Amino acid sequence: MGLPETFKNNDKDTFGAYTASSRWPTIVANAIDDLEAELSTLEADSQRFKAGKDIQAQLSLLKQEIATDKPIRPFTAEEIQVAQVPGSFNDVITSTPQTWQTGGWLFCEVYLYRRINVLFRNCNSWAQFDIFNRLKQSTFQNSMIGVVELATRYRKLESQLQDANPQALEILFKEFIEISLWGNATDLSLLTNATLEDIKSLQGEEARKASESKILINDTSKAWDQLTSSKSKQVDFVLDNSGFEVYADLMLALFLLDTGIATKCVFHAKDIPYMVSDCMIKDFEVLVEDMNSADFFDLTQLKDEAQNGRESLDFLVRTLKQHVASGQLTFTETPFWTLDLDYTHIDPSETKYGGAQVHKDLLQSDLVIFKGDLNYRKLTGDRKWPRTTKWETAIGSLASTGLKTLSLRTCKADVIVGLAPGVDEKLCSVWESEKKTEPGSWWSSSGKYAVICYCDGHQY
Ligand code: F6P
Ligand code: MG
Repeated sequence: MGLPETFKNNDKDTFGAYTASSRWPTIVANAIDDLEAELSTLEADSQRFKAGKDIQAQLSLLKQEIATDKPIRPFTAEEIQVAQVPGSFNDVITSTPQTWQTGGWLFCEVYLYRRINVLFRNCNSWAQFDIFNRLKQSTFQNSMIGVVELATRYRKLESQLQDANPQALEILFKEFIEISLWGNATDLSLLTNATLEDIKSLQGEEARKASESKILINDTSKAWDQLTSSKSKQVDFVLDNSGFEVYADLMLALFLLDTGIATKCVFHAKDIPYMVSDCMIKDFEVLVEDMNSADFFDLTQLKDEAQNGRESLDFLVRTLKQHVASGQLTFTETPFWTLDLDYTHIDPSETKYGGAQVHKDLLQSDLVIFKGDLNYRKLTGDRKWPRTTKWETAIGSLASTGLKTLSLRTCKADVIVGLAPGVDEKLCSVWESEKKTEPGSWWSSSGKYAVICYCDGHQY
């Protein structure tokens, strides 16, 4: 049997089609506004101001290109050189011509962020500017309640670990996996109009408990068995969003290191500003600075708990710095994570675009955790699998090339696999009756459900 097709931007009633027609123009419009905010801090006759205005005009043209369904154009030789655009993009565009509103959802989305990046990289004075930084930081600031709650929870861990038996450790592991999982619910590309209340309702312990029944597939115990059976102990995180999500991932990493379940955690970040909120190495550095700063969070809002909150944050920052200094917590980046290619390319046979090297690196790991929705789409190829397809089938060669993988995903897209028969039908009908204006199948794009999928890499 051949592979199912990938989702296309004109697939009727899909979240992808809605994203291409409505959400991308909004995302580009927000980028134009954020650039305006940056420009307002500059002298109007400065060279940087003028160059910024030029980028802004080109962003408007890009928005128009999307809205008027222009063909996806190849990157020019100059763009490739200045912005080091990987060859995979033009190879696909040449072999599979497509347009903005009829092309592959995954391909066009990844291409969109590369086009935005090229505009900035093309201009020296803006080359390192992160157009999404403003939004990333302000959302992290608005996550204060959840941030302090987790820092306080982490501080209690030390005493809990003193006499923890293996069963207790496994329960704690499950808790920290869920912290990292639901950290993915704070997605800036979906929260474009979120209020402080919306953000808070996604981040606390109560929200996590209430959402437990929304984890439709839960392979946490398989991951636990894998980690507690292996000798060397490296855990890799293929990161998703910065801010609250990477903060939640750090909690999981610290838990693994403090318990000795892992001796090293490697965080794989993005090499360019990507998918609005994705984490770059510098975002981790900014996050630590923000937590350390006396005035980034307005802790007075916590009233009697303010002092406690400060101490918990300080404790966390100290611990993070120690782990970074000792080399137990490291950050790395490779262009592979921002390619258009799906993860069946993480394979020894893929020598053209870096997939073989990534595979080789990840083979050293005892568990590779893929965070978030986009990573899940890339793991499954963003294909129209029947929703009861086995996970091992959907991830293709990754199921049999030796990598131990765990996907922690809150569902924000059309693709979903691994469901027991009848589950999709039930959720579709519930969604349809609750959300009168949305197709029932959109339950899987709502961010309200989640899956935790493990594969041992030896499924032939
Ligand atoms: O589906 C909505 C969306 O914005 C997709 O475009 C993308 O796959 C995803 O969410 C980003 O979410 P995450 O940050 O979890 O990867
Ligand atoms: Mg993301």
